Amino acid sequence: MRVTVVGSGFVGQTTAMRVVERGLAEVVLIDIVEGLPQGLALDLRQSAPVVGFDPAIVGTNDYADTAGSDVVVITAGFPRQPGMSRMDLLGKNAGIVRDVVERIVPGSPNAIIVVVTNPLDEMTFLAADVSGFPRESVMGMAGVLDSARLRALIAEELGTSPLRVEAMTLGSHGESMVPLPRHATVDGKPLADLVDEATLERLYARTRDAGAEIVGLLKKGSAYYAPSASVAKMIEAIAGRTDEPLPVCAWCTGQFGIEGVYVGVPVRLGAAGVTEIVELDLNEEELAALREAAEGIRAKCADLASL
Ligand SMILES: NC(=O)c1ccc[n+]([C@@H]2O[C@H](COP(=O)([O-])OP(=O)(O)OC[C@H]3O[C@@H](n4cnc5c(N)ncnc54)[C@H](O)[C@@H]3O)[C@@H](O)[C@H]2O)c1
Repeated sequence: MRVTVVGSGFVGQTTAMRVVERGLAEVVLIDIVEGLPQGLALDLRQSAPVVGFDPAIVGTNDYADTAGSDVVVITAGFPRQPGMSRMDLLGKNAGIVRDVVERIVPGSPNAIIVVVTNPLDEMTFLAADVSGFPRESVMGMAGVLDSARLRALIAEELGTSPLRVEAMTLGSHGESMVPLPRHATVDGKPLADLVDEATLERLYARTRDAGAEIVGLLKKGSAYYAPSASVAKMIEAIAGRTDEPLPVCAWCTGQFGIEGVYVGVPVRLGAAGVTEIVELDLNEEELAALREAAEGIRAKCADLASL
């Protein structure tokens, strides 16, 4: 498999590292800054003998080198600064995502696009619109990250391993994240039986604000270890190495009563992109929250037209 990572900043470079280290694909790393992707690719190739992988990575500033990509991960754009919301990034990053997609499409007309640039839901919609690709070939990364953050926080709260915790978040990447208490378990036991309501709410609020918490601590730039791990997990699924449902920003066509909008839902991924939206058993309250998140995204995507 050939994966292009557009944007060689913190998320792009750590994504490239995870993909080559796991031998998931050959990687083309691209950026507008001359020398940056070339230098990073050279450094990564020189780590190969120590880490133990085949050094299939090149850096470039030329889109001709990305031709024939099976997957294109878009991380190009500005990250948040302290006090900035993901929406503050909308105008700045829409121009970048539009330009990147226009340059990628001619050389890789059958690629799957995984959008990472924020604001995530809107940028995913924009990439789908500009590419003209089938909607199942264009998706956004957010739910795997939000779910990982929730699992990590639950594990810390209960003093256990995150590997014993299962949890999934749906909805939008941001204020309208939809946590699913009934689907969260620790060692197979429902989370709601292990902590009180106030603790649940505190864990959800911290998950929702986890990106901002990290931005506040870093002062410059935003999170990248967990985001790149989440992208790598999606590429692993696209490569057919796992079949587990993952929460992904995907185009809904009536599932959960939601139609014609990108929103975080559980999906199965494969070589064709989103191969199935998994209709989890949601109760009325959960469904209402998911539909509200979807309508919020629909309204924000309409704002894109006015840019
Ligand atoms: N979806 C998520 O869950 C999630 C998580 C983390 C970060 N993000 C987002 O990912 C994006 C990247 O974050 P980062 O920390 O890597 O930022 P960064 O500033 O470290 O890197 C961004 C890179 O994009 C490059 N770039 C800018 N315009 C470009 C263009 N037209 N073509 C190619 N490259 C271009 C820059 O030169 C820079 O190297 C941000 O928008 C951030 O908000 C999303």
